[in-house]
Amino acid sequence: MCGIVGAIAQRPVKDILIEGLKRLEYRGYDSAGIALHQGDQITRVRAAGKVADLEAAAQELVQAGKLDGKLGIAHTRWATHGKPTERNAHPHISFSENDGPKLAIVHNGIIENYEIIREELKAKGYEFTSDTDTEVVAHLLNSLVTSGLSLMNAVQAAVAQFEGAYALGVIELSNPERLICARLGSPLVIGIGSGENFIASDALALLQVTDRFIYLEDGDVAELTLDGVSVFNSEGEAVEYPVTKFEHGVDSASKGEYRHYMLKEIYEQPEVVKHTLEGRISQDKLLEQAFGPKAAELFDQTKAVQIVACGTSYHSGLVAKYWIEELAGIPCNIEVASEYRYRKTVLVDGTLFITISQSGETADTLAALKEAKKRNLMGSLVVCNVPGSSLVRESDLCILTNAGPEIGVASTKAFTTQLVSLLLITIALARRNGLAETAEAELIRQLHKLPQLLADSLELDEAIQKVSEQFADKHNALFLGRGIMYPVALEGALKLKEISYIHAEAYPAGELKHGPLALVDADMPVVTVAPNNELLDKLRSNLEEVRARGGQLFVVADDKTVGHYSDDHTITLNEMHSILEPIVFTIPLQLLSYHVAVLKGTDVDQPRNLAKSVTVE
Ligand code: G6P
Repeated sequence: MCGIVGAIAQRPVKDILIEGLKRLEYRGYDSAGIALHQGDQITRVRAAGKVADLEAAAQELVQAGKLDGKLGIAHTRWATHGKPTERNAHPHISFSENDGPKLAIVHNGIIENYEIIREELKAKGYEFTSDTDTEVVAHLLNSLVTSGLSLMNAVQAAVAQFEGAYALGVIELSNPERLICARLGSPLVIGIGSGENFIASDALALLQVTDRFIYLEDGDVAELTLDGVSVFNSEGEAVEYPVTKFEHGVDSASKGEYRHYMLKEIYEQPEVVKHTLEGRISQDKLLEQAFGPKAAELFDQTKAVQIVACGTSYHSGLVAKYWIEELAGIPCNIEVASEYRYRKTVLVDGTLFITISQSGETADTLAALKEAKKRNLMGSLVVCNVPGSSLVRESDLCILTNAGPEIGVASTKAFTTQLVSLLLITIALARRNGLAETAEAELIRQLHKLPQLLADSLELDEAIQKVSEQFADKHNALFLGRGIMYPVALEGALKLKEISYIHAEAYPAGELKHGPLALVDADMPVVTVAPNNELLDKLRSNLEEVRARGGQLFVVADDKTVGHYSDDHTITLNEMHSILEPIVFTIPLQLLSYHVAVLKGTDVDQPRNLAKSVTVE
């Protein structure tokens, strides 16, 4: 994880870097730092805590005019090696013989073989002052530059020694006219300005200064000057990439009138779901050609589906498994990426390998895809929210969720737009396995109703806020669902634990009696998603088991089922077609965890210990 920003300009870059870091805080927010080329020296400030703490720590130097350099790098950290303290914060510096800073670097990723490199550098006399894997990068570059290599060649030689993943930004005292960067396995983009150029972990960080970007490939090393960018691949050959215009407006990355990004993103769902559907369905048909020419070829050959993802994206995959097996009649397996990547898995002939990822950068998901590609893979498809991301580039086919930037660490609109995308994929597969035209038309007609149903569900916000008061003093909660609503319960529990720190677990309601029932007492809220489907009667029996033990039930029901739960806390949605239930029933659970977190006073958008984009293992 971690966020990197860098700039070379004809104006002071400190404010650009700090603003960039603020926009990258979703990637990590336990410590931050900045290093600027100040003419005769490199000045560095670091602080434990958030970017605001860094700003406070930099105050004195700012007032003294010592942070007005026009070349600099900055970093916001999510600790992997070494605690989130000032000494472990980036940038890391390697000093010259007269003790002045010689070069400074920022790093995102993990240098897995750092211990060996560190021992070699220690033997050469380099002194280590942090517990990070990153510090070896600074000293290794210093030793290579000292041996006579140019900074560019030193970076190329250094990265050739690294195992693991990295995105790097490097500045050197004797090189005031260049900023060097490199990437492998961690994201890095170059922002193109006029007479100034930038680097960042995510284009969002630079939207204040440019909307034109170059997306680097794995293994690339690049040199930025005031008016040029040169990129070299891992073979050292010069490469040219297109400059891409960023498609979403600056506003899509700001909070607007909302108190938190998460709330804004919950409320955006009716609109962004429209974007997911746009151009992909007619009144009564899936417009499959909108997925591109490769789609038909892949779907035609699909005999089985393997889904791999992490976190919330894994939950959307679980829902898709129900759809794919039920509507398309195709066997579908799903596994979390961190497990899949290290297992000797068997892929049957004709397997379509689907990864799901909001960021497109999750290290485990990416590694699982790369592993699978070494095996008997018919083709790969990614459902992703970030164009140009690593998973998009690694996959044969990409279906973009079009949710716009998601900043809140707890995923909301990414989840619902993933579900919509996965439903479209299901329909494409089902077409080839006997889905009648009339049945397809019915599904598409239902999808047209979805934005309005989502908007209606948001009307329940006030009622849910009231219900949330019952959770604020609780330490545990159970979430129950049956069938396709079980993954929805899993996602509800994940949301609650992520942002309110209440321990929450989800169970298929039928499993209650096999263990979790032992936990149920008057202090245990039990949240249930209970649409009017064929499993409703079974679910009601499970809920009786909770009632009989004095458990407090919170039921998300629909018009048709509400009567059954009158003595419990009930949130009632409008009745809908069963295909839409997993999508719409998710909204009350998102709002519930949001309001509980606000009542508890936690950091809703940046919950402790977490980060949005997990680019390390
Ligand atoms: C992190 C985020 C989650 C997200 C997961 C997978 O844990 O906090 O919200 O679901 O990564 O991320 P991806 O970008 O691959 O969907």
